[in-house]
This record gives sequence, C-alpha cells and structure tokens, in this order.
Amino acid sequence: MTFNQIYQYNFPTTIRFGPGSSKELGDYLLKNGLAKPLIVTDATVAQLDFFKEIIADLKKKKISAEIFSDIHKNPVKSDVYKGTDSYDATARNAVIGIGGGAALDVARAIVLRVNHREDLFKYDDLTGGEVYITNDVPHFITIPTTAGTGSEVGRSAVIADDETHQKKILFSPRLLAKIVYADPLLTMELPPFITAATGMDALTHNMEAYLAKTPHPLCEGIALEGISIISQALTKAVNSPDQESRSKMLIASLMGAVAFQKGLGVVHSLAHPLSSLLDTHHGLANAVNIPYGMQFNIEGCEHKFKRVARTLELKEENGEAVVKYLFDLNSKINIPHKLRDIGVKQGHIETLADLAIADFAHPNNPKPLTREDFKHLYLKAL
Ligand SMILES: NC(=O)c1ccc[n+]([C@@H]2O[C@H](COP(=O)([O-])OP(=O)(O)OC[C@H]3O[C@@H](n4cnc5c(N)ncnc54)[C@H](O)[C@@H]3O)[C@@H](O)[C@H]2O)c1
Ligand SMILES: [Fe+2]
Repeated sequence: MTFNQIYQYNFPTTIRFGPGSSKELGDYLLKNGLAKPLIVTDATVAQLDFFKEIIADLKKKKISAEIFSDIHKNPVKSDVYKGTDSYDATARNAVIGIGGGAALDVARAIVLRVNHREDLFKYDDLTGGEVYITNDVPHFITIPTTAGTGSEVGRSAVIADDETHQKKILFSPRLLAKIVYADPLLTMELPPFITAATGMDALTHNMEAYLAKTPHPLCEGIALEGISIISQALTKAVNSPDQESRSKMLIASLMGAVAFQKGLGVVHSLAHPLSSLLDTHHGLANAVNIPYGMQFNIEGCEHKFKRVARTLELKEENGEAVVKYLFDLNSKINIPHKLRDIGVKQGHIETLADLAIADFAHPNNPKPLTREDFKHLYLKAL
C-alpha cells in the first residue's frame, strides 16, 4: 500500500489522509467562516518547523490563530480551564488540536468546556456524566502529530485531577472532530523512542479491540488490518523511517482508535496505573505489558490468536507464537522486556494492583480478571 495522494474517508468522520493534507487547513477555515481559531498544542510541538509553517500559512490567509500550549504530558483539569480562559479572552470561534494524544485530549476537553461550565468532572463518563453534555460545541478540527493514540478520531478525552492524578474520561459523540487532517509528513521527525512507544500503543489498541468480548465484526475487520499494517511498518518507522512507514503507522493508529470503540482489555488496565502512579508514557506502559497481557488471554481465545498469528504471517499459528513475536518486536524497537527497567519497584505492586482492578478497560477483556490476576501479571513482568 502506498499513499501518494490524498484520500477522503468518512468513517467515523471526515478524514483527509495523505502527505500534505494539513496544508488544506487554511482554506477549510476560510470556507467555513472560522477565522478566529484557538490552536491547542504542547510546548514541544509549538517549536517544531511544521507547526510554525502551519501558523505562517494561516497568517498569510489573514486567519488570526491564538496558540495555547501550556499543558502537562498527562493532562490535568487546570490545563483545560486555562485553555478555555484563553478561548474566551480572545473571542475564538473554533478549536484546532495539533499534536499527540495529550494535546488532542486537552483540545477536546476545551471543546466541551466552552458551553458546559459545571465542574469538568461532573461530565465524567464513568459516573454517567455524558447525559449533561447537551449543548452545542465549537467547531473542532484535529491534526495528529504522533501515530499512536488515534485520539484524532476519538470521542473521549482523558483528563486527570490536578491533586489526586486520578484519570477521568469525558465522552460524547459531540466531541468527535468535524474534520481530521492526517498528514504523515508531520510525523517524519518523531524521535525513535516516541515512534516505538506510540506505535506499540496503536498495536495494543488493535489487538485488544480484536479480542474484546463485545461482538463488533466491523471493528474486528479494521483491527486485524491495523495489526497487519503495523507489522509491516513499525520496525522501519523506528529504525529507518521513510514516508511509507510513517504513512502506514499513521493510518494504523487511526484504525486502532476506530476499532477500540469495541472495547480494550487487560493490557490497558495494566498500563493506566503506571501513568497515574509513576507518570510513565502511556505507549511505553502498554508496550512493556502487552506480551504478558496477551499470554494471559490465550486460554479460551485460541481461535482468535490463530487469526492474529496468521495476520502477522507467523510460522506457528498460535498464541504462544504471537507472544514471542511481541517480545521480539519490543527488542527490535528498543523497548525493555521488564517493568523494573522502566522504574517499577516491588513496593509499587500492591498499589498498582489496586488501581488496575478499578480500571475501566478490563471489563471488556475476553477473560475476566481478579486483583490477584493483576498482581500476578505485574510480578511476572517485574
Ligand atoms: N483520548 C483517548 O482515547 C486516548 C487514548 C489513549 C491515550 N490517550 C492520552 O494520550 C496521551 C499520550 O499521547 P501520545 O502517545 O501521542 O504522546 P504525547 O502527546 O505525550 O506526545 C509524546 C511526545 O512527543 C512529542 N511530539 C509530538 N508530535 C511530535 C512530532 N511530530 N515530532 C516530534 N515530537 C513530537 C510531544 O511534544 C511529546 O513530548 C496520554 O495523555 C494519554 O492519556 C488518550
Ligand atoms: Fe492506548
């Protein structure tokens, strides 16, 4: 598969995919009367050349973009409040998220907050907050610059409490972007570590979505193809990136996020506590845990693992071969095999197990888990 032109896909929203697609942003804004956008990004992306070029192009078209980049790597509520203050103070009429999952989450939460002014966590999906999301929201556009979370096509934002670091989920179909500019050229300079960690997040989304117990063949088809594309591209994207490997990782990460409407599973529940407790990057936390989580899932899912193995073109078509593939893939992209190599200590295990059993992702895992199962998995990976 090669991407040498821009294609339009309309599932789940309008996606303009291909090299250079982000250059269409200015004309789109003008056509839709959106000449006063708030651009939400992070402080690193705000300094990159492609970002400066996007701003310069908007300026040329007389679009006055306000930039908000004061966000945390695992975003918190006060980031969202500050960004909304900026939206209000400068009388904006659209929100554009440009960045990785963190920036896109903050952008999406600002989109919610503009016309929903109760405490942000009143809208927490886990406590039924979606029912309060009833007002219109500003025009929302996303431009991903990492290939991992797929948040550009998502309808939820993960935002943590400033003090407790507990993660809340803001969810509503209203929070889906109106248009996504997915431009692989923006990901060309991603450093190897971020490429590896975000790429493994994308692989985890596709694998967990495929295995998740909710019946959803549409998402399963997407997930299997996502797994196949990542297997062709991730090692190259990390070690000797070219436009094709970057394009493949960007489309596969977007596919993972479409697929995980079906649900996630054990690996995300193992990973989330590492970010809450130790501030571990989300993708890295998934990457280290995925071989162990998949090993746990084999029993009872033999048929599905056979299909995953076939998709990966492995010699042995079974779950054990998939687990071995995952360890080998981590080695090739310089991801450690053990939790102790990413700062986890024996003393963390009990707290991690408490957080994991309370996590929202595992109820959709094909095999149910107890707190003991989580403890056992952490100890095995330690
Ligand atoms: N909403 C969802 O459904 C969902 C799902 C999973 C994760 N998340 C959230 O997403 C976040 C993780 O997102 P992520 O993995 O994209 O990481 P990220 O947004 O933290 O970005 C990783 C790093 O890469 C840098 N970066 C981004 N684009 C770059 C580029 N083109 N070139 C060079 N550097 C670049 C960033 O500045 C940052 O330092 C977490 O906060 C997590 O909670 C959200
Ligand atoms: Fe994820």
